[in-house]
Amino acid sequence: MKNSARLYSRAKKSIASGVNSPVRYFEPYPFFVKNARGGRITDADGRTYIDHCCAYGALLLGHRNRAVVSAVSAQLKRGTLYCAPTPQETELAELVAKCYPSIRRLRLLNTGMEATMSAIRLARAYTGRQKIVKFDGGYHGAYDYALVSAGSGVAHYGLADTQGALRAATRNTLVARYNDIASLEAAMSDDVAAVIIEPVMANAGLITPTREFLRRVIRVAHSHGALVIFDETVTGFRMAVGGAQEYYGVRADITTLAKALGGGFGIAAFGGRADIMEKISPGGPVYVASTFAGNPISVSASIAAIRQMRRLGAKTYSRLERTAGRIASHVDDVAHDMHIPHTVNSAASMFQVFFSNVPVTDYATARLSDSGKFKRLAALLRDNGVFVPPSQFEVAFLSTAHTGQDIQHTMSAYERALGGVRH
Ligand SMILES: Cc1ncc(COP(=O)(O)O)c(C=O)c1O
Repeated sequence: MKNSARLYSRAKKSIASGVNSPVRYFEPYPFFVKNARGGRITDADGRTYIDHCCAYGALLLGHRNRAVVSAVSAQLKRGTLYCAPTPQETELAELVAKCYPSIRRLRLLNTGMEATMSAIRLARAYTGRQKIVKFDGGYHGAYDYALVSAGSGVAHYGLADTQGALRAATRNTLVARYNDIASLEAAMSDDVAAVIIEPVMANAGLITPTREFLRRVIRVAHSHGALVIFDETVTGFRMAVGGAQEYYGVRADITTLAKALGGGFGIAAFGGRADIMEKISPGGPVYVASTFAGNPISVSASIAAIRQMRRLGAKTYSRLERTAGRIASHVDDVAHDMHIPHTVNSAASMFQVFFSNVPVTDYATARLSDSGKFKRLAALLRDNGVFVPPSQFEVAFLSTAHTGQDIQHTMSAYERALGGVRH
């Protein structure tokens, strides 16, 4: 019996469903990890994979980035948690503000979920309104009123939402179609506090907006007196140092950041216009708090990661985008030659293949893909030494640590794996 199989049957006896987050599971059992370095991850059976899951986008700089590890090691010697302010928190806030002109004040938290939940609460308090509008297939975290028509694991397991949610909470979440401004206009009213959007959808497969769509979302929201929340949990520091806002040349009222912000450590932030952010306690009436918010370990990792991402700059982001484009067009060519119905989307350092001929521009078209075929593809990729998120409703990521050889290996693995799903 394989080590991962044994570890999974043991885990099932003490961990609910054997994994600590649903999309980590795949059939017949997930591989258990021994260690990881750079662009590669090694399982408990000694198999090494090129890692294109990149911790669901968090590892823009790859595993065990040297600068991040050394900053954290230095901080470990000074303490792990104080729950009293440190100058490093201010340094981090100043660094983020340099990258995101729309963020004049911010608050640190631990997860993307906390950041979007707090951003929504703030928008409700600022506008004095109750409703929010999200987009079909958009994922903003695992809490009641965000789990309406959600992507990610909710989509993967075919759930409409989640059982146990407070109906009174979900009733105030309205849903519009991505890339469809008329559906947003139809959802808007003077009761809407905020429109929350993933500026590139990365939880329903990969779905890109047009710049014009993002501009019109902002215009429509503002014309109804609502705020715009850009959930840049995935896109922040990944599409550019300044995230999707820099990439598309737009500005949100409130922005949420997580994943790549931490260089592999748990940290998140939300921030925006000073007049909005000043509503937060203790200066204002909106309560946001967490014991681990701004903890020195994550803050030191984040400062090191941002400094490095700024140093690498536009040249590195363009190189990553070209590489993702190269993988995407290779997958496109191979699938075309094999007569496999498919669509491939890519943007910045992200890509995803869908098994349907229809262009994928929203959640409805993403769902037309043969997701069973995608699961088989992901399994065959693993057999060929490449790890991608095992769900159609996630995306594959690149990191700066992937080498030319890794990318060559990935392209050959897609070729072989596509050969295995052609029938
Ligand atoms: C766009 C987006 N928002 C929010 C979240 C929630 O972040 P976390 O898992 O850190 O709570 C995710 C997680 O994948 C995400 O992709």
